[in-house]
Amino acid sequence: MSKKSIIIGNWKMNKTVSEAIRLITELKSLLSGKQEVEIVVAPSYVALHPCEIAAQGTPIQLAAQNVFYEESGAYTGEVSAQMLVDAGVKYVIIGHSERRQHFGETDAIVNRKVKVSLENELKVILCVGETKTERQQNKTFEVIERQLREGLRGVNDTYAEDLIIAYEPIWAIGTGDTATPGIAEEVHRFIYEKLGVIFRRDLVQKIRVIYGGSVTPQNVRDLMAQPDIDGALIGAASLEARSFVEMINYGE
Ligand code: PGA
Repeated sequence: MSKKSIIIGNWKMNKTVSEAIRLITELKSLLSGKQEVEIVVAPSYVALHPCEIAAQGTPIQLAAQNVFYEESGAYTGEVSAQMLVDAGVKYVIIGHSERRQHFGETDAIVNRKVKVSLENELKVILCVGETKTERQQNKTFEVIERQLREGLRGVNDTYAEDLIIAYEPIWAIGTGDTATPGIAEEVHRFIYEKLGVIFRRDLVQKIRVIYGGSVTPQNVRDLMAQPDIDGALIGAASLEARSFVEMINYGE
């Protein structure tokens, strides 16, 4: 398939503005310029625009880690999709398990964020994934199906190509306990099947399904070798320039 793979660094609540700019500068100096993959980093809100400026003229694109579901108005502390677009941001991560867990984000909230982002021409990285208990109870597919169905409810076919689904099993995030390529591939195949119910078949081929959860330079190649794994969403191992670039260059 001719889809371009994508490697995304989720910096979470790490890096001050000056540290974030320094990391972009280091990445720039390490990238050879002939990368085969799409490269995205997701700094904190305050570092987004400074990083966008620092990344100009490079293949590095910016993602936000969150967005609010209203267009504008009296919502103290929130950031709109339009503000992100104006700051040069191209992607937004929505429904990360840490937001579902610590900030009470439901599938309904996730769905509103997905829609407002797509309508404002942001590309969406929608995160889905089961807990350890859900996996042990054989509920993985049920959970993923619900998160996809509810998260994508009412999303028009025309937006399919602006969508990335990130399969992030919660038991693998920040634990060093990566899903084996076989486990990840099985869920990715299931996700493609379900996307085929939601969107027109020919459009599903344009959607990338990426894996996240303790991806490292050591395991990235085996994961990316799976037919239905189109990229990686990387937390801890993306905070250091050499390790991130090693993963970007997994194919070399
Ligand atoms: P991790 O985080 O790579 O540190 O496990 C991944 C994520 O939460 O996106």
